[in-house]
Amino acid sequence: MQKIISGKVRDVFDVDEQQLVIVTTDRISAFDVILPTPIAGKGAALNRISNFWFGLTKDIVPNHLISTDLKDMPTLFSKNASDYEDRTVLVKKLKMLPFEFIIRGYVFGNMWKAYQAGEPFCGQKIEGDYQLAQKLASPIITPSTKAAEGHDVYLPLAALDSALGQELSKNVQAICLALYQRAYDYAARQGILIADTKLEFGLDAQGNLVLADEIFTPDSSRFWDAAAYSVGTAPQSYDKQFVRDWLISNKLDGVEPAPELPAEVAKKTAALYAACAKKITSFS
Ligand SMILES: Nc1ncnc2c1ncn2[C@@H]1O[C@H](COP(=O)(O)OP(=O)(O)O)[C@@H](O)[C@H]1O
Ligand SMILES: [Mg+2]
Repeated sequence: MQKIISGKVRDVFDVDEQQLVIVTTDRISAFDVILPTPIAGKGAALNRISNFWFGLTKDIVPNHLISTDLKDMPTLFSKNASDYEDRTVLVKKLKMLPFEFIIRGYVFGNMWKAYQAGEPFCGQKIEGDYQLAQKLASPIITPSTKAAEGHDVYLPLAALDSALGQELSKNVQAICLALYQRAYDYAARQGILIADTKLEFGLDAQGNLVLADEIFTPDSSRFWDAAAYSVGTAPQSYDKQFVRDWLISNKLDGVEPAPELPAEVAKKTAALYAACAKKITSFS
């Protein structure tokens, strides 16, 4: 069995024509650089969060999840259970759409930069008066291409229509908004604001649209603490705040090769991921 992708955070193994195994590791990246220090339990936390959402949203769109049980996977995984337990999923192998579907509920990041400059963002004019980190009147989709190298490139919705065809494009967009709304509402009840998020989809052998990758994790989304949120100020990142603060205060943000994190920073970060997973997955 072959490892076909070693991404920033996940390792993807080819099982057969129809299936993949995805392992979420404890790797962490900050300022686009992978740090050498693993965050204990991070992979399991992200995996649990994603799987929770897959269950909660499967009435909106089918997803790639087949099994979370190592016994359903090639023996390599069950033989080394301590390395893989709780962080590994068996999924449907899909033909991925070459886009990242970014859904934004708040004016922040690159969108805030465009808004301040009075420029449209992804071909969409941002109407109205907004402050930093303010909630949008309604969420918007700002797709980008999945670039193999370098930074992803944003594209206007019209370009998505021509790439996918009107019908599929409109269908994916409606599904994106429905998924975001579902997750946003649940997370808000637990004190987490999902400011924005990134989704990926693929097509199965029958050509059906299937939700894939990770969904609504703090790695693929901006999670803000609702209790600390205030319009006009930049919210702290829910999960990576200690890592980012430490890197910035030591002038090491974005520096390569990345430095080892102090044990204390890694420990506090691990606790944030664990707390986040607990909050999200303990809905009743
Ligand atoms: N069901 C699936 N079928 C095929 N590819 C998938 C599926 N789910 C996720 N992927 C791909 O697997 C990779 C996951 O690795 P990841 O560590 O997230 O990479 P990256 O650093 O690019 O974010 C991504 O390229 C994603 O598009
Ligand atoms: Mg990814």
